[in-house]
Amino acid sequence: PPTAETKVSAAPTSDTIVIGHVGSLTGNEATFGQSSDNGIKLAVEEINKKNGIKGKKVVLKTYDSQGKPEEAAVAATRLVTQDKVITFLGEVASSRSIAMAPIADSNKIPMISNASTNPKVTKDGDKTRPYVFRVCYIDPFQGTVMAKFAVENKKFKKVAILRDVGNDYSVGLANFFTETFKKLGGEITDDVSFKAGDQDFKAQLTKIKGKNPDALYVPGYYTDVALLARQARELGLKQPLMGGDGWDSTKLFEIAKGALDGSYFSNHYSPEDKSPTVQDFITKYKAAYGGATPDALAVLGYDAANVALAAIEKAKEITGPAVRDEIEKTKDFKGVSGSISLDADHNPVKSSVVIGIEKNTAKYAATINP
Ligand code: PHE
Repeated sequence: PPTAETKVSAAPTSDTIVIGHVGSLTGNEATFGQSSDNGIKLAVEEINKKNGIKGKKVVLKTYDSQGKPEEAAVAATRLVTQDKVITFLGEVASSRSIAMAPIADSNKIPMISNASTNPKVTKDGDKTRPYVFRVCYIDPFQGTVMAKFAVENKKFKKVAILRDVGNDYSVGLANFFTETFKKLGGEITDDVSFKAGDQDFKAQLTKIKGKNPDALYVPGYYTDVALLARQARELGLKQPLMGGDGWDSTKLFEIAKGALDGSYFSNHYSPEDKSPTVQDFITKYKAAYGGATPDALAVLGYDAANVALAAIEKAKEITGPAVRDEIEKTKDFKGVSGSISLDADHNPVKSSVVIGIEKNTAKYAATINP
């Protein structure tokens, strides 16, 4: 796979439009970047089949963030200064998008994150970042979704929290969940930390076990969550785990090996959605990628790319500021992940699905509207 070190072959010529993508193609969250890239590539192929934009072919340049914020920033800078992209897409992980966002603003090149849900991605303090956008909902909503699901659907009264303290997404989501869960009368029995890549969660899990909560809320990424779930079962914790979109990966099930049965997480889409838009996309994706079912990142990558391509198409000239203005106007855009209208903070308001895990497979459980 290309890395941030990949040499760029040629400068953009006037008959091409270059767009960028920064994703974790390797590392602990490799499926995030790979799925996003697959979705983006489909959108680019489709537009090129229809003769490109304004008669120009669209070229996609992708760099690997290796799952590191510093690398994500290096890659974004390279896309802007070297590849002369007109817009760039990514990252999935909020901490990496937060590292890339100032590069979009300072170079006046729009960035659209497909999947970063932390509010800080599009906001610098209380100021909206002029050049940064996203096509997914944000975590104050996502945290509320699982808190409500816990109290109203599952009747959980006591929940323990395990948060990845080095991860903006995890910390934010843990806080947003806690706020709503308490407001609804719930009690947080413990709030303990881990760090991405940890191999041993037994000390935290033992502490939690003593208070016998109804469930554990673990807003982390799939590799850590799956390992943590196995260790919870080894220690005799039988409670369901709950989490967020960061669980979404086929690897979650490969690593968990059934340890997450009975657990739930919030996500952006379910492949069981029978709407023609979703089912047509699944059919196309399977045909292109050897029968693989798209995950939420593939869907959101495709949607982010299409929002960007539509804006380039509409822009009066092919410059960063002109494309930015069109992205900002995005309204009622028919995405596979739902209708996208950007608010004043450059965030769409969309519904969330809750996915349950049974027999080590994902099963649609509920849709929660904003
Ligand atoms: N929302 C996560 C973040 O902001 C990323 C993510 C989105 C991961 C969707 C998986 C699926 O870090």
